[in-house]
Amino acid sequence: MLLLYREYKYDYKKKILVTCALPYANGPIHIGHMLEHIQADIWVRYKRMLGNEVWFICADDSHGTPIILKSRKCNSHPKKVISSIFQKHIYDFNCFNISYNNYSSTHHPKNAYFLKKIYYKLKLNNLLTLKNVIQLYDVKENIFLPDRFVTGTCPFCYTNNQYGDNCDSCGSVYKTTELLDPTSNISNTCPVLRDSTHIFFNINIFQKNLYSWMHTGVLNMHSLNKMKEWFCNDLKPWNISRDIPYFGFKIPDLQNKYFYVWLDAPIAYISTFSNLCNHNQSLNFDEFWNIRSETEFYQFIGKDIVYFHTLFWPAILEVMKFRKPTKIFVHGHVTMKGMKLSKSRGKLITVNKFLNYFDSDSLRYYYASKLSSKIEDIEFNTTDFINKINSDIVNKIVNLAARSASFLNKNFNNLLSSKLENIKLYIEFTSISHKISVFFENMEFNLVIKEIIKLAEIANQYFNYKKPWTLLTKDKIKLQEICSMAINLFRIIMIYIQPIVPNLILNVEKFLLTKLDWHSINYPLLNHRISTFKSLYKRINVNCLDDLFM
Ligand code: MSP
Ligand code: ZN
Repeated sequence: MLLLYREYKYDYKKKILVTCALPYANGPIHIGHMLEHIQADIWVRYKRMLGNEVWFICADDSHGTPIILKSRKCNSHPKKVISSIFQKHIYDFNCFNISYNNYSSTHHPKNAYFLKKIYYKLKLNNLLTLKNVIQLYDVKENIFLPDRFVTGTCPFCYTNNQYGDNCDSCGSVYKTTELLDPTSNISNTCPVLRDSTHIFFNINIFQKNLYSWMHTGVLNMHSLNKMKEWFCNDLKPWNISRDIPYFGFKIPDLQNKYFYVWLDAPIAYISTFSNLCNHNQSLNFDEFWNIRSETEFYQFIGKDIVYFHTLFWPAILEVMKFRKPTKIFVHGHVTMKGMKLSKSRGKLITVNKFLNYFDSDSLRYYYASKLSSKIEDIEFNTTDFINKINSDIVNKIVNLAARSASFLNKNFNNLLSSKLENIKLYIEFTSISHKISVFFENMEFNLVIKEIIKLAEIANQYFNYKKPWTLLTKDKIKLQEICSMAINLFRIIMIYIQPIVPNLILNVEKFLLTKLDWHSINYPLLNHRISTFKSLYKRINVNCLDDLFM
């Protein structure tokens, strides 16, 4: 039976490229990082579910001073360190069902190839200048200090314990030498000032172009306002070189200098896609990166790296005459008790540890229930987490299937009835598909969850009101119809929630003996045999939480 009512037209056939920011290869993935990959993956799965061609890529950011320091510490070569971390990162993303088409590394030769291309283009266009710079130097460790390895007091708002490049508290960006009372985080000593020659990229040439680009709808209001602040003054030339000791790619025509990690990191968006093209005959690099490309390009980043992605990165793209992103989605940070989860601040739960206690869908569901299009921080609250999983997923959603399936199993050999008990209610469920898709589209995942819970409550109320258990001896046909109706409502809910909880969906597909497909919501399951109900999702054991946060 096809239930015809208002059919919405979706644009299914788009070609889309999606990226997440590249995690540093100097430590494990923690549940803070995972927010971004989950947010992007939900969106990617939603887009694919409609039928679009979506290419989703990311890579490890394998260069920079932290890698050198880490390999010094464990008496190993940086290459060994990054390759072992690379394997772990890939494993973690797989565990969370992040559906990357390619996950590469900035250390890949293809990245070196594009980096050199860009460097020579910059030189050819006279966009580089050499300048002498004074920097903070750690005399004890013989190393120039990167911004992240210096802490001190913010020169603007005077909050202490801030990094060398920007302030977490007021969001200001400044030079490391401007930081008050600096301390080297490597040796815990007070650094000295030392000078060295560096290469600067004159991005101010692109100021006008970048200013008009940022008004093309690429950013939401909040990020746009932040960017406008940066444009109040001329954009300063950008230092793209670093002194030894460093791990990265060497600058071909300068001795003892490396390219700065933030130059080759965004280039990996290009090289990772190029690698994917090498392994996939149907993919055309030029179709996606050509300046007149008709494909769409979306990037997910955290609020701490907006500056790099809205100024430096599009400037690189200008130089290469490549296309720019269609939209940049910026998210806030995951906090616990108000503090950002971060490796350098020592406050983190690795995803590996998280998975010792819970499954990945629980975190995906929890984040989805909190994510909106606003750049707000997301507090990981343990009581809230247990509630969301046990009361929403288990009690409201999965229980609906459990209750009705047991009657179908015992009395009807798992066969669903051949008609819907309440067509009006079924149409009520399917007719909000457009609303759900608008919420997904606009990154309002919290509203998707709210709608889904509303539907689950309505379906449970329907079941309770109909009291099918009283019909066992009185009216078996009605009993079958009511339970089948509940299973059909459950199926619609599952189709809507599909991009959020992939593990649960696999179990549900095995239970319903059908693929969950967005385009088949108007075709209810009738006269269809399902399988015997087995637990679809486990309740969270509350005692686990104390272990996790110890
Ligand atoms: N390597 C750079 C990005 C280069 S992109 C060309 C970087 N790495 S990172 O590992 O520090 O962060 C990677 C992403 O994770 C960033 O978008 C960052 O905002 C995000 N997060 C890191 N900690 C986070 C939280 N506690 N909460 C949410 N996102 C977090 O920056
Ligand atoms: Zn500040």
